[in-house]
Amino acid sequence: MSLLIIAQHRDVKLFKSAIEAVDPDIDVEIWPNVKSPKRVQFAVAWRHPKNVFSQYPNVKVISSLGAGVDHLIQDETIPEHVKITRIVTPALSDQMCDFVLTTCLNLFRKTEIYLEQQKAGKWKVHQAYKKDELTIGVLGLGKLGQEAAKRLMMNGFSVAGWSRTKKMIDGAETFAEDELTGFLNRTNVLVNLLPLTNKTEGILDLGLFKQLKQPAFLVNAARGEHLVEEDLVYALDTGLISHAVLDVFSEEPLPESHPFWGREKITITPHIASVTDPHEAAELLVENYKRTLSGMNLLYEVDRKAGY
Ligand code: NAP
Ligand code: GLV
Repeated sequence: MSLLIIAQHRDVKLFKSAIEAVDPDIDVEIWPNVKSPKRVQFAVAWRHPKNVFSQYPNVKVISSLGAGVDHLIQDETIPEHVKITRIVTPALSDQMCDFVLTTCLNLFRKTEIYLEQQKAGKWKVHQAYKKDELTIGVLGLGKLGQEAAKRLMMNGFSVAGWSRTKKMIDGAETFAEDELTGFLNRTNVLVNLLPLTNKTEGILDLGLFKQLKQPAFLVNAARGEHLVEEDLVYALDTGLISHAVLDVFSEEPLPESHPFWGREKITITPHIASVTDPHEAAELLVENYKRTLSGMNLLYEVDRKAGY
């Protein structure tokens, strides 16, 4: 039996050596160099080429190399009986909490204005927002969203959260799927940590922006396809959104010619909010590999129907 890593535009040698360090008996192969395709029972995938799994007829489980599984759910060529799982680790969530906290601190302290002023050699003071002046609303209260909400509250921010099923989080005002309007009406800084599914694609649109409390800000750390790009440009131009921080894009890397690059009111980071650590992921991948071979329940198995 073998464990196959399939990833494009990513150096996966570190993952192979980390998995071998956890269990030297596992035969780890890196696509496309596969000795015997029939021996592959467990695959780890990130931005895999479409239809690639048809070459591995005995795959039982595919793990995402990250927390998101949209690339696997969207691949209709993966047979229905194949189970999908994902990476959930403390380091992944800790990095996301740091990203969200840093971003919110920068927005409250108006750092983006000072960065622009520096380019122009301009000395001008702007009043920072007080922590009780704006509410941060987290879209998606899963593994990452809940931890991010807690980290923000620990730092004195006022936090609301929205998820499909209502969550109880001490100190946060939480809303269920059918309470989106109530959630948006009290949110100034919208932080998106939703999975990309049929229901959430394009959710960040003009209709949603109009329901936010003013002044309004957007932080998208989930997936580029959540955002309707032209609606964001309109919302920024008309002042509906004061500033947007975007870590993810429909096309990555973001093309050089993309209009987002030239906009002062958009801060761009290259999908770095939270990056899977090979050593930490290796423990989980080996555990799920062994569970696959022994037919046990997987850790962090995804509901393929729900899409996350
Ligand atoms: P998760 O544990 O699956 O949580 C998803 C949350 O979204 C849950 O609270 C879920 O509600 C909610 N949700 C799903 N569909 C919904 C809907 N239609 N309406 C309302 N709420 C809905 O996911 P996670 O591990 O926190 O990760 C979230 C996403 O972050 C990933 O899918 C990935 O795209 C992104 N991500 C980005 C980076 C980066 O570097 N930028 C890194 C890691 C992950 P319930 O609780 O009711 O199920
Ligand atoms: C990164 O985007 C992830 O899904 O882990």
